[in-house]
Amino acid sequence: MRGGGEAKPGKSQKSSAQRHLNAGFVVVGLLMLLAYLVAQHFVVGSRHVVITEAQVIMDNVKAPDETVVIAEAQRIMDNTKIPSETENGKVVCNMEGRSDTCEVDGDVRTNGTALSVTLVPASRSERHEWMIRPYSRRFASVRKVTVTQLQDRADAAPCAVTHDVPAVLFAIGGYAGNYWHDYADILVPLFVASRRYNGEVKFLISNIRFQPRWLAKYKAFLQGLSLYDAVDMDGDAQVRCFPHVTVGLRLDKEFSIVPELVPGGRRLSMADFTRFLRETYALPRGSAASRDREQPHKKPRLLLIHRGHYRRITNEPEVARAAEAAGFEAVVAELRGDATEAEQARVVNSFDVVLGVHGAGLTNAVFLPPGGVLIQVVPYGKMEYIARAEFSEPATDMGLKYLDYSVSAEESSLMETLGPEHPAVKDPDSVHRSGWDQVFELYLAKQNVRINVTRFAPTLAQALDHLRQQ
Ligand SMILES: *[C@@H]1O[C@H](CO)[C@@H](O)[C@H](O)[C@H]1NC(C)=O
Ligand SMILES: *[C@@H]1O[C@H](CO)[C@@H](O)[C@H](O)[C@H]1NC(C)=O
Repeated sequence: MRGGGEAKPGKSQKSSAQRHLNAGFVVVGLLMLLAYLVAQHFVVGSRHVVITEAQVIMDNVKAPDETVVIAEAQRIMDNTKIPSETENGKVVCNMEGRSDTCEVDGDVRTNGTALSVTLVPASRSERHEWMIRPYSRRFASVRKVTVTQLQDRADAAPCAVTHDVPAVLFAIGGYAGNYWHDYADILVPLFVASRRYNGEVKFLISNIRFQPRWLAKYKAFLQGLSLYDAVDMDGDAQVRCFPHVTVGLRLDKEFSIVPELVPGGRRLSMADFTRFLRETYALPRGSAASRDREQPHKKPRLLLIHRGHYRRITNEPEVARAAEAAGFEAVVAELRGDATEAEQARVVNSFDVVLGVHGAGLTNAVFLPPGGVLIQVVPYGKMEYIARAEFSEPATDMGLKYLDYSVSAEESSLMETLGPEHPAVKDPDSVHRSGWDQVFELYLAKQNVRINVTRFAPTLAQALDHLRQQ
């Protein structure tokens, strides 16, 4: 929902804003298609792909006597591995899971115009090249970075600027602009990649021109991770030298963090991420409502996220009244993104519960105080799997209680628009069998819900119980 809620575009940006809007729509579809196809069942791979000279030789040698080949390869490994790492630096690329990334360590030089990252060896070395999309989903359409391990030092362009801090190179094209993707694809992975440096890191950002407002929106966030000005890579003509460059961002778990895979030995978690947000945006509440001794009658606060276009709750006032009746102070808000990220974060942090229909708006749960509750209303049509992939484990990892409420056919607008005999109402499995386009069109783009507050009451009671137990 934030996709359409960006700051009002100027005249010249109108068509581009429109494109973003449309793109946002497609993006949500793509994202859920991804969840639909693979959900979170990616094997969390941490095997690093290191291409060594020995390996290249091993792959190429065909000899009748296997033992000789192995002995030869072993000898080469023993002789080359250690010097190449200490003097010549090294490139370690990881092509597993959803993302392609390289860690380039040593005498590393960047050329923004060429979008290249080059490791310059001290002595003659084996040449290698990798093409890396610096976005956490490798199929995103962003320009690739050429990572090269040079053979000869003499081929290297001289340093125009020498930095003594490492750099992280990433792109903000791809699915950025959709609020969920901003967090899942960029902000969380960037936190994972750079928190270990305690601000002593430079960000090299590609694709800024396609997302002109993105940097302004997340300025405070970026400043919280890096003490230095970011470089607009695509327009950077000079050669910069770094001791270490991370190319691309890793997405280990959808909208979350796998502590064991965080580089630098600090086992950061999603709870650390939301703590960082509370620091960055000076959010006052670090824990959700419990029975306040001084104000025993103060009610926990529930934020009902309004959606403007589709997947609306058509009886929103009735749902808000049901929440009040359950014991909450309920507020309906649209969070259209006219406010800055900091203002929005402060608004959400004043609540204990976020409630809304499946969509990017639920991403706001990152600002809830730990111990709070996220209630996701799942549209009709066997959409639980898809809806949960994006929010269930992430919310739990943030230290929130996750609840969902599945809309029945009787509560769906499809009952009226298509009738009870339509396959979309009678047989959701048949829609799923006919493909993602149909699933998206029928269940996500053309459905509104009218929540039966009697049926919904136990979910509200569960949320309240959770808050009372703290
Ligand atoms: C950087 O790359 C561009 C494009 O490939 C090239 O024209 C330019 O000469 C390079 N800059 C330097 C300083 O080598
Ligand atoms: C609302 O839900 C309750 C409890 O499940 C059910 O008894 C009632 O018939 C439902 N009302 C409508 C209008 O469907």
